[in-house]
Order: sequence, then C-alpha cells, then structure tokens
Amino acid sequence: MGVINVLETHVANMIAAGEVVENPASVVKELLENAIDAGACAVTVEIQSGGVAYIRVTDDGCGMSPEDAKTAFLRHATSKISKAEDLDGITTLGFRGEALAAISAVSKIDLITKSKTAGMGTAIYAEAGDVIRESDSGCPDGTTIIVRELFYNTPARMRFLKKDATEAAAVESVIKASALAHPEVSIKFIRDGRDVLHTPGDGVLKNAMYALFGRDFANNMKEVVCHQHGISVRGFTCTPQSSRGNRGLQFFFVNGRAIKSKMLAVALDNAYKEMLMKGRFPTCVLMLDVPPTQVDVNVHPAKTEVKFARERDVFDIVYFGVKSALEAREEKVVPPPSVPKPAPVDNVTKNQMKIDMTPPVLKLSSSPIKLEPMEMPVRTEESVISALEGMKNEKKSEKPLMMRSTYMPEYRAEPKAEPPKAPEREAFAEEKPSEVKEEKKIRLIGEAMNTYIIAEYGDSVVFIDKHAAHERIIFEKLQKNSGSAMSQILLTPEVVEFDKLSCAAILENREEIEKIGFDVDEFGDGSVVVSAIPDGIDVNDAVAVLEDLAETLRSGARTRRPDILSETMYSVACKAAIKAGQKNAPEELMAIAERVLLSDDIRFCPHGRPVMIEFSKNDLERKFKRIV
Ligand SMILES: Nc1ncnc2c1ncn2[C@@H]1O[C@H](COP(=O)(O)OP(=O)(O)OP(=O)(O)O)[C@@H](O)[C@H]1O
Ligand SMILES: [Mg+2]
Repeated sequence: MGVINVLETHVANMIAAGEVVENPASVVKELLENAIDAGACAVTVEIQSGGVAYIRVTDDGCGMSPEDAKTAFLRHATSKISKAEDLDGITTLGFRGEALAAISAVSKIDLITKSKTAGMGTAIYAEAGDVIRESDSGCPDGTTIIVRELFYNTPARMRFLKKDATEAAAVESVIKASALAHPEVSIKFIRDGRDVLHTPGDGVLKNAMYALFGRDFANNMKEVVCHQHGISVRGFTCTPQSSRGNRGLQFFFVNGRAIKSKMLAVALDNAYKEMLMKGRFPTCVLMLDVPPTQVDVNVHPAKTEVKFARERDVFDIVYFGVKSALEAREEKVVPPPSVPKPAPVDNVTKNQMKIDMTPPVLKLSSSPIKLEPMEMPVRTEESVISALEGMKNEKKSEKPLMMRSTYMPEYRAEPKAEPPKAPEREAFAEEKPSEVKEEKKIRLIGEAMNTYIIAEYGDSVVFIDKHAAHERIIFEKLQKNSGSAMSQILLTPEVVEFDKLSCAAILENREEIEKIGFDVDEFGDGSVVVSAIPDGIDVNDAVAVLEDLAETLRSGARTRRPDILSETMYSVACKAAIKAGQKNAPEELMAIAERVLLSDDIRFCPHGRPVMIEFSKNDLERKFKRIV
C-alpha cells in the first residue's frame, strides 16, 4: 500500500460523510476492511465484553512505516485515493481516510505495525485521537490494532449500546459477511477467550460457508454463475426446501464489499416466485463483479450501500443467474431397465398395471390410446414425463375441434435421454465423492379421496397431492421449453372478445405469450383471434388463461416480462393439470409418483404449496410407539 496522504479539502468534501463509529461491530468492520485492503492472508479478531471493553484485530498484511502509522490517525488521511477522479473507480474497501481517525477519537488505541521491508516495527498509543506515545517495537510483519474502552469519553453514545451479547452478535455478523466476501483470507474470531469461528482462507467460497454456517447450509445450496454485459454474479443460492423464516442469511457483495440492497433482494425474490410459501425467504451468498467505474460506493457514510450505473442489468443478472441455478438439473437417478412394477391393486387388472412401456401403451380409464412403438430401454425421468404427456394427449384426442400441430410430439422426436452430468463439487475432504442417489423402490399403494397418491418409497410412505404435483410438472416443462413450446393448431380459430385495453395489453405481450405455444392476432374491435394454443389444454381453458392474463395486465400489477411469462405458464399449468377429485388410472398415478420421487425439482406447486408429504419408517414407528 502506498504512502498515506491527507486529502485536500475539496476532495474530502466530496466524500459521503457521517458517523463511522456506532458500535463495536462498526469498529470491527472498519478494522477488518483495513486488514483486507492491506493484503492480509490471515486476520484474527478478538473481543471482550461485546467489544466495548476490548477489540483486537491482528493481520499479516503490508504494515505501515513509522510516519504512516502516525498520519493514519488524522482525518482524511488515506493511501487509497489521492485525487477527485479516483473516486470514480474505487477498488479498495476503504477510501475516505476517516475510520482510524473516528475510532481513535472515541477510544484508547494501541497500534503495533511493521512493514516487510523494515527491520523494526512501530508502537503507538493514542487517546481520544491524540498520539500520546510512540516507540520502536520488535514485532512480526503486519498490523495489530487494539481498541479499548470504546466511547469512554462520549458517555451519551455509550448509553445507546445494547447488552454485551447483542453487541457481540452484531460483531459476529460483520465478521461473517467479511469472511464470505473474502474466502481467500483466513478469518478467526475469538470472543471472551473462546474460539467462535475460523475460516480456512483457501479461496473456496463453499468452504467458507461451511465453516461459518455449517454443513447443511453449505450443502443445500445451488451454484450460481452468470456473466452478461461485462457484469457477473457468482456464488450460491438455496434450494427452495431450505428457505428460512427471515432474510437474515441473504448476503450480497459487490466487488468484495458487503452491501444492503432492496433491489437485489427483490430480484432474488422474483427468481423464487412460485417456489416458496408466503413468509419464507431464500438464503444466498451472491458476489457481483461490476466494473468499478459503474458502481458508486461513495453514497453512504458506512459504505454499505452502492449505486449502480446500470441498475437494470444488475437486477437482471441476479434474477436470471439465480433462476437458472434453480432450474439447473440435479444429479438425476436413472433407474435400471427393470423398474419395479407396482403391486396389484384391488380394482385393476394385472394388465392395466403393467407399465414397463415397451412399447408404450398408455391407457386412460375409459379409452386406451396406442402410441407408435419406440425404443425405450431405460425408464428415465424424461420417459416418465412422456407418460404424463400421454395423459394429456388422450384428453385432447376427445376434442374434435383440434388436431396435433405440425410439431413432432416430444416422445417421438426426442433423442434418448442421457443421464445429466453430475455437477462439479468443491467437496469437503470428509465428503464421499460424487455419489448417485441410492435407488429406492417405488410401490404404488393407491389413492385416497381421488386426490392423494399413496406410495411406498424405499423405507418411507409418501402422500402426493396429484393436482399440485402435475401442475408443477407441467410448469417445469413449460419453463424448460419456453421459446420452443409445443402448440396445438386449432382447426377453427377461436375469436375472443376483450375490451380495448385488455386486447391491447395482450397484443403488447404477444411475444411472451407465444413462447409457450399460443398464436394470437388482432381481430379488430377489441378482439383477438387465437389460432394455436399450448399443448395439453383445451380451448376453453386456453381462453380462460388469456382472460386471466388480460385481467392481470390491465390491473397493472405486473409489468416485468419474466413475470408475464411465468404468470401465463402458471395459469396454463393450473388449467392443464389433472384435478383433485378426478378419477385416474394407476399408471397415471404411478407416472406422477415416479416423476416426483425420482428427482428433486417437483417439491412445491407453483403457488408454493407442498407437493408431497413423507413419513419415514422411523416416523411411523414413533407414532405407533414401537420405538420412543
Ligand atoms: N491494517 C492496516 N495495515 C496497513 N495499513 C493500514 C491498516 N489500517 C490502516 N492502514 C493505513 O491507514 C490509512 C487510514 O486508514 P483508515 O481506515 O482511517 O482510512 P481508509 O481505509 O483509507 O478509508 P476509510 O475511512 O474509508 O476506511 C489507510 O489508508 C492505510 O494506508
Ligand atoms: Mg479503512
């Protein structure tokens, strides 16, 4: 780090000024930032009595010369910027030359520092901002700062401090945020003589997450990587199943700086839409890399808020980055050719239960439909989807109005599904290498209330809400195929009358609507003509989807394009899904059970309701008091 200079007044005046030292956590934040800016590989933070009595931060960074060590306590003394233009492209965490002056003004400080090239270090003692003693000191390379008796000379501020435990918790949060932002730095925290946390400093974010929040937190995350328009986002976001009741574990960083941003929290929420129940929030650790010239960090005295030159691009990269991480396929189980057959169920014949699907003969309760034979040696997840497709085709074949589109039905056109590659793992040493989910048998037991599928799955009994599950399956498929969705061309195009506003709203969003299989055109006088509709729903449902959408658009509730698209998919999925109360054949129930159980993506319906409830053998034995 360069020599410390005192900024000229006009530059100093351009810096967002304000209170830097509010509590022990803000002191620790500033001292940690200085250590990281000094290029430290390892930093130890120690506090006593919530940090009010004692804070020590020791680093192995570049250290300071004897002159710099004294200058550092002056206001606007910094080595990180020197002129006004430097404020336009800040690459360090500090830049104001404010922190040490502000901290030393309200405490008693010991500074011990030595640069690598100096033979001898320097020790300085300052009280209320004045250097009282200075001497040579034999010490290791790097810097130690000890802050004692915080606010000893400002009793009014002392009164605002909270209980030691609360202040200590705030210190811990600040340390965790810094440790996540800089996994390349090993950070250790000692509280009242007890080791609280210690990150490895190996540069692997997942390992830092593991050290800070434990194995479950680290393992229930999906990796996010997205680059666009010179901006990138990387990090992790949680699976919908591991959401929380508050936003406490949402971490956003911009160029290594922890920031608070409502805009990024909204982008995150939007990416999880239809996946979380009300009152549940995702957790995330997301690092944005934005060219320093496009982000202004000089907007908030505590440097915790930033302003982006291209806010929309930043929103989009977080939204799409997280969304595609959530949609990325899990390690899928590809069951061997001999998928266990369901056990006979009372009211069906053996033949009806045979669903090995070579050739795939699917039967509906009333009229069986035979598909062209095809080679399906392995029952993959895709083939299970095809079975579900079969149900929808069957339904459709009853409608004389329609014909199949010129698009090839998916189960004929699709090449053999390849098992997806396992994601790369930054595994922890003790973890087993890339494992394939253990194969568990699925046995259909039956259905309750024409609504809940009951199946035995390995050592568990599961209840699946068939409508919710099917709705999600269709929704996933629509999302996956968005842009190349299958349509059904209507023999007789349907004219739908709207009022003029709704009609305009529909036509304005035509591009989005057509991504999922609609073909709509203006018909004059507030009407649109619909000549193709998404595969799998009937005309009346398709019209209802358009009417719902027109209502949503007219009410102005949603204006973002991704919302319009997912809103429409969601409406199509709801209309196309089998309904609770409807009778279904065991093959259909089995196909749904397999699709749900053999992969992890069908866990919540698009409204966020759970799709499945599972009772393990253990749960049942406890309930029956076989075990305690
Ligand atoms: N741990 C450290 N190791 C080496 N140099 C340090 C350390 N802490 C402070 N310094 C030096 O002291 C200067 C003043 O630090 P201070 O924190 O007051 O200001 P800053 O980091 O430049 O800006 P800000 O007020 O935004 O933090 C820094 O610019 C840096 O040169
Ligand atoms: Mg600083």
